[in-house]
Amino acid sequence: MAERLGVKHCVAVSSCTSGLTMVLRALGLAGEVIVPSFTFFATGHAVRWNGLRPVFADCDPDTWNVDPADVERKITERTSALLVVHLYGNPCDVEALTRLATRYRLKLVFDGAHAFGSRYRGRPIGQFGDAEVFSLSPTKLLVAGEGGLVTTDDATLAQAIRGMRNYGDTGAYDPDWLGMNARMTEFNAALGLAGLSMVEEKVRRRNQIAQMYTDLLSPLPGLRFQSVHPEDVNTYKDYSVHVTPEQFGLTRDELAAGLLAENIETKKYFYPPLHMQKLYRAFHDPTRNDLAQTEHVTGGILSLPIYESLPDSTIENVADAIWHLARYAAARKEPSLSGRHYHAAVRS
Ligand SMILES: Cc1ncc(COP(=O)(O)O)c(C=O)c1O
Repeated sequence: MAERLGVKHCVAVSSCTSGLTMVLRALGLAGEVIVPSFTFFATGHAVRWNGLRPVFADCDPDTWNVDPADVERKITERTSALLVVHLYGNPCDVEALTRLATRYRLKLVFDGAHAFGSRYRGRPIGQFGDAEVFSLSPTKLLVAGEGGLVTTDDATLAQAIRGMRNYGDTGAYDPDWLGMNARMTEFNAALGLAGLSMVEEKVRRRNQIAQMYTDLLSPLPGLRFQSVHPEDVNTYKDYSVHVTPEQFGLTRDELAAGLLAENIETKKYFYPPLHMQKLYRAFHDPTRNDLAQTEHVTGGILSLPIYESLPDSTIENVADAIWHLARYAAARKEPSLSGRHYHAAVRS
């Protein structure tokens, strides 16, 4: 894996969550860690398991990744690290974040849960920051059943993670670290290895599906799409659209209900954002309007079906259903719609 990703060390662990938790611990952090609020909660959990305080940064309105300008605004003398995410596999602004980490002497860790197979300016994700951590759990492009990979050029950090995943013991039967059992089992490793040769093809097909959805849906008013830098590769672990109800005619939830009535299941990855979840609310002051983009984007986010074996005809059917719902909403000129009413209307 290290060879494939072009990084000095790769440590196989039990999951991305355990990998992130151990990396933050091994880096000896204290105080505050800046994280995007628009992410899966495991990003935040790794911070909190280490007794660190998550400080939320807002997202970019187009890439939906963390906004480096807002990250910089959130840096204080208590900040010890940035833990940022390649959302859906779309590489975040690695250069700007690396500059910030260097300038303010912060550790930089990338949550690459979605990003095995992604590339930033031609280079594989896995090469950046103090460490990057991948997830090999189901729904990812490389699946090991369960599992994670920690990649780093730092030999000391790699050694620490190797010890930590094994109760902290590096062989002396006198642990160096307060470790845990976070090894990747051989069974899982074998599954992961078997899937490795399929990753490039999965990335290609997912990009094709994403392009089809975007081409079919972009003429509709009120829908926006994740923007990806032309030199980068997104894995499209997820493909989401953003719904602006005033222009689209339906809210995100109404669209989801209408699609479900057509047997099309969608997800809201990732809504609510971390700062609106009960474990994280206390870390955010709601009177400060500084996560406005995150609230706007996650408030309209809808993840459409995507998997490599999804036939073109199904992509077209999903897009058709969205078009029908939009047309129906426009004809009705009334904002609320339940799946049942939609069904009745379309059938009649
Ligand atoms: C952004 C992000 N971070 C971390 C994780 C946790 O990964 P794992 O299930 O391997 O612990 C996930 C899971 O999907 C995720 O989406």
